[in-house]
Amino acid sequence: MSDQSPPHNPADKPERESVAGLTFRPARDEDTEALVTLWEACGLTRAWNDPRNDIAFARGGASSDVLVGTIEGQVVASVMVGHDGHRGAAYYVAVAPAHQGTGLGRAVMEAAEDWLKARGVWKLNLMVRETNLAAKGFYEGLGFTRSEVVVMQKALA
Ligand SMILES: CC(C)(COP(=O)(O)OP(=O)(O)OC[C@H]1O[C@@H](n2cnc3c(N)ncnc32)[C@H](O)[C@@H]1OP(=O)(O)O)[C@@H](O)C(=O)NCCC(=O)NCCS
Repeated sequence: MSDQSPPHNPADKPERESVAGLTFRPARDEDTEALVTLWEACGLTRAWNDPRNDIAFARGGASSDVLVGTIEGQVVASVMVGHDGHRGAAYYVAVAPAHQGTGLGRAVMEAAEDWLKARGVWKLNLMVRETNLAAKGFYEGLGFTRSEVVVMQKALA
């Protein structure tokens, strides 16, 4: 899916501080290598997950996409968004290390929430590794609360 969604520009929201020059749009084919580089730099890739496959799968779905944040044409942030008909989800939340701590992470989550709200989704669930204390602090600062649930999984392929 994707290139049909309008670009999301936090600068359109005068009530919120925006980051100069930051624009969000759906990922394109040519963004794949920049996304993988970004995710590697942010420590988000895992040996058992092929990030290129993850990108292709999310971009190909009717209810999912990958959003990239760019400044002067360079990919500096990302989020994979989607919903399963009930809850929204965000994965691969990433800000390039050189830009972290300058408000891009907040803008990333705003872009994800706007994408989901535009599709009628009313709740966003996140999975954060127990060891990722910085990300937990970041999400708590944005109003996320801890759910008393255990995430279970089963490989299907
Ligand atoms: C987590 C991440 C996306 C945050 O992005 P960022 O650009 O550094 O965050 P921002 O500058 O937009 O910060 C937004 C708010 O969160 C707060 N925040 C950021 N990190 C925090 C932390 N470790 N603890 C508490 N608050 C934190 C900031 O102070 C800021 O608050 P403010 O707007 O009230 O000043 C970024 O650090 C990153 O890419 N990390 C590596 C990848 C990762 O772990 N992703 C999450 C996977 S679940």
